[in-house]
Amino acid sequence: MFMPRTLIRIAVVASILIALPVNAQDLGQQVTEDDLALWDLTTESNGTGLPPGSGTARTGQSVWSENCAACHGAKADGGPAGSLVGGIGSLTSAAPVKTVGSYWPYATSLFDYVRRAMPYQDPGSLSDDELYAVVAYILNRNEIIDDDAVMNAKSLKDVKMPNRNGFVSYWPSPLKN
Ligand code: HEC
Repeated sequence: MFMPRTLIRIAVVASILIALPVNAQDLGQQVTEDDLALWDLTTESNGTGLPPGSGTARTGQSVWSENCAACHGAKADGGPAGSLVGGIGSLTSAAPVKTVGSYWPYATSLFDYVRRAMPYQDPGSLSDDELYAVVAYILNRNEIIDDDAVMNAKSLKDVKMPNRNGFVSYWPSPLKN
């Protein structure tokens, strides 16, 4: 028997098109200020964007054990996701060891990174106080700050990372001159 394939195809497409029409205004929902705040996470190297709150390495110890140790080691110096500690002074050697302590130029960037990306399986789950505390813990493990140094929006930006001056700025680009 003759199968009018073209007719069948037309019927299929037509039935999809009939099902499709939806008023575009019915899709999605209004973005609120609270929704936006969840994504407004940028911390600049000069500290702009750091939230209120504070913490010390001492209070950060338990935050670390509960949220980070499984992947970065009990003392931040190993584990399946790698060490965040050590290597300071090794960058100009034949075997540079790049860690947060040896390589990252700004403590504020450490806060920014942890706030948006860690813990790996549940980013955004730490409070601002917990974030300051766990960042203080990592800095302390690198012997950059003392056990009881309070990290907050003001003090964090003043932390001098060992490799602060190890980067070359290409802005304005020397290539344009
Ligand atoms: C489930 C495993 C896991 C947990 C838990 C975890 N991390 Fe990570 N972390 C990773 C992985 C994987 C990377 C590398 C990610 C990449 O390169 O994209 C990483 C990278 C990092 C880095 C960047 C290291 C570098 O030198 O580039 C920091 C800092 C960091 N984690 C901090 C933390 C902190 C703080 C916690 C706890 C609040 C935490 N992590 C919990 C898996 C984990």
